[in-house]
Amino acid sequence: MFDPFHRPIKSLRISVTRKCNLKCLYCHEEGELRSAQPYEISVAEIAKIAHVCYEEGVTKVKFSGGEPLLRKDIGQIIKALPPFKDISMTTNGQLLEERIGDLEGLDRINVSVDTFNPATYKRLTGGNIDNVLRGLDAALEAGLTPIKINMVVMDGVNDHEIGEMIRYVRGKEMVLQLIELMDFKKRAGLRGSNLRVIESTLEGLSDRTTTNTLHKRKKFEINDAEIEIVRPIDNTEFCMNCNRLRVTSDAKLKPCLLRNDNLVDVRGIDQVSDALALELIMKAVKRREPYYKPRPVDGAYGRRKADTY
Ligand code: 5AD
Repeated sequence: MFDPFHRPIKSLRISVTRKCNLKCLYCHEEGELRSAQPYEISVAEIAKIAHVCYEEGVTKVKFSGGEPLLRKDIGQIIKALPPFKDISMTTNGQLLEERIGDLEGLDRINVSVDTFNPATYKRLTGGNIDNVLRGLDAALEAGLTPIKINMVVMDGVNDHEIGEMIRYVRGKEMVLQLIELMDFKKRAGLRGSNLRVIESTLEGLSDRTTTNTLHKRKKFEINDAEIEIVRPIDNTEFCMNCNRLRVTSDAKLKPCLLRNDNLVDVRGIDQVSDALALELIMKAVKRREPYYKPRPVDGAYGRRKADTY
C-alpha cells in the first residue's frame, strides 16, 4: 500500500481506548480530539482493519491509548491479529503485573517510566511507581522484550535521574528511550530538557553509536546499557519517512498525527467485505500527505517540531 507521496504503509498505531488510569501532566493524548465520541472500537473492527492491512503489506502494530490495559478484552484483541512481524504496546505499567497473563501474542512492550522517585512519580502521573516496577519484572519474565522504558526528560524534574535509569536498564533486556518533551500544554509549567546536549554527553561516554534510518534516532551503548534518544528531527524528514496509519479509539482512520480534519470513519467496517474494507482504508491512505513539506526556497527545509516516536 502506497500513499500519493509514494510512502509505503508499513505500520498501524491503534489507540484502543481514550480511558486512562493516570493523569500525566504533559500527556499529548496521541493527538486525538477531546470531543471524540465515547464509542470504543470493537475487537471485530480492529481485527478487520488488521487483516486487510496485513494482506496489503503492513508488518507492525502498536497499541496505545489512553491506557490499553484498561480494555478488558485486550487479550482477545491481540489474539485476533494476523501474524505481524512486530506487535507491541505502550503502557503506563500500572496494570501490567495484573494483566500479564492476557498478553499472549504480544512481542514486546514500551513502559512509561519518567522517574523512580515515588513522590515525583505521584506528582507527574498521579500513580504509584511500585505497580510499574512489579509490572516490569513480570514483563521481563514473560519475555516481552526488549522492553523500552519511555522517559520524558524534564529540567529539574527528572533530568538528574538519567544515570539511575541507565543503571537500571544495564544488563537487562531493556532499552532506555530518552524522549524530548513536546510541549502541547504550555500550562503544565514543565520544561523539557535539551536532548541535544544530553545526546552529546552520552555520545562521549558511548562504546558504540548507531543511527536508525527511519527516525534518525541515535542509539548508544554504554557499558552494556542501551539508550535511544527520541527527539524531534527535521520535520520534513520525519514526514517523508512516515509509514504509519493511525486508528483512533472511536474507530476512525487517522492519516496524520498532527491533523484531525481528514479522518475516515470506519465504524462497522467488520460488517463489510474485505474489498470494501480495503476501499475505506485506501480512502484514508489517499488522504495521507506530509504535514511538513520541503520548502523549495533556496533548498531550505522547514524546522518546526513534530512527534518522532
Ligand atoms: N511529549 C513527549 N512524549 C510524550 N508522551 C506523552 N505525552 C508526551 C509529550 N507531551 C509519551 C510518553 C509516553 C507515551 C505514551 O507518550 O513517553 O510514554
